Amino acid sequence: MSTAAQERLIRPARNIYGSLRLPGDKSISHRYAMLGAFAEGTSRFTNFSTGADCASTLGCMEALGAKVNRLGNEAIEITGVGGRVTPSAQPLDCGNSGSTMRMMSGLLAAQQGRFTLIGDESLSRRPMGRIQKPLEQMGARLTLTEGHAPLTIEGGPLNSIDYTTPVPSAQVKTCVLLAGLQTEGTTTVREAVRTRDHSELALRAFGATLTRTIDSISISGPQSLRAIEAAVPGDLSSAAFFLCAAAIFPGSGLVLDSIGLNPTRAALLDVLTTLGAHISVLNLEEKHAELVGTVQVTGPAEGLGSTAITGALSAQLIDELPVLAAIGPYTSGGIRIRDAKELRVKESDRIALVAKNLRAMGAEVIEFEDGLDVPGGQTLHGATIDSGSDHRIAMAFSVAGLRAEGDTLIQGAESAAISFPEFFDLLDRVAER
Ligand code: S3P
Repeated sequence: MSTAAQERLIRPARNIYGSLRLPGDKSISHRYAMLGAFAEGTSRFTNFSTGADCASTLGCMEALGAKVNRLGNEAIEITGVGGRVTPSAQPLDCGNSGSTMRMMSGLLAAQQGRFTLIGDESLSRRPMGRIQKPLEQMGARLTLTEGHAPLTIEGGPLNSIDYTTPVPSAQVKTCVLLAGLQTEGTTTVREAVRTRDHSELALRAFGATLTRTIDSISISGPQSLRAIEAAVPGDLSSAAFFLCAAAIFPGSGLVLDSIGLNPTRAALLDVLTTLGAHISVLNLEEKHAELVGTVQVTGPAEGLGSTAITGALSAQLIDELPVLAAIGPYTSGGIRIRDAKELRVKESDRIALVAKNLRAMGAEVIEFEDGLDVPGGQTLHGATIDSGSDHRIAMAFSVAGLRAEGDTLIQGAESAAISFPEFFDLLDRVAER
């Protein structure tokens, strides 16, 4: 994949219309790759994420001894290491992927050996103290670089812990559970806000036993995992860009097939419905405990209304907030976002970049430490967008550009490939001009 900087011109659209099938969910693909690589036997996955982030996870797990066979058409086979990795002489390169670095650290902390994890410039700025704390409580030793990557883990047998996560983070929860999987005794993670539960569902699918209460999840180790075959559901966070694009065009019609609708991820559908979009879900089924269905969306004739996203909802929608904010000007009553301070430590400071780019398009926006107020009833004009090499900013402002006056130039458009390499081609397929 080329990482050279690219620009993309987004021309205004008249409507959004069509039917798409999207590549596999990034969160689920990471987990299936990591667990498949750790399990006993050969797993087979179809519709595996095409994003560079999941390729980083695969690359690291290969470096640790797993065998990966890329079969083409998004199908892969992974032969796992049967619970014991081989420390690699080279640093493990997590690229842009916080999920890879944080979740894999938990897996490695319980393994004998020394592991060094590195990432790109953006990942090397992101906070890693949040995994150091629980893993050191369990007895591992982590050396960070001023709280960031590069990080080195001295792994070995750990002790179980009862840990309350200070920030809502599925990555931190997963990190602790993957260490707990290999640790004598019961490890419990408590969270004030329920974050995505793909790890819990995937661990069970691979044969592990976990117990859950309303606000905690426990795993008793050591347990071994066995290979599975699975189809990865389409990525709802990628679908979000298309759902929001359709929602801002009255009379649009978009059908997205086989999308992951795990309730801990699907709050976007409720928010769009609150805004007035017409959404229906068809063909709902369960695959390895993950809900999958077809989503149909139509933009309301009267346009979108208004909504506030605060509290637990902000944590559940964390990856969708940039695109929701970017369509805020096209609503009648605006979009208010609070309790989303985590946005400042994602692949970029997403609060600052959303505000900067909305202003570049001529919008009024108020920035808060933990969110944004985007007033409605505004007209945007095309502008040059600084994506900050952040995939979700590049895609969010491509959506905003569809209803702007004039063309929008997305700088750093290649970053879309972090989660969704097909994004611009698929957008062209459904954007009527
Ligand atoms: C993810 C969890 C979220 C999300 C990220 C993927 C995951 O991060 O922003 O894109 O797959 O667990 P946090 O758990 O750190 O909030």
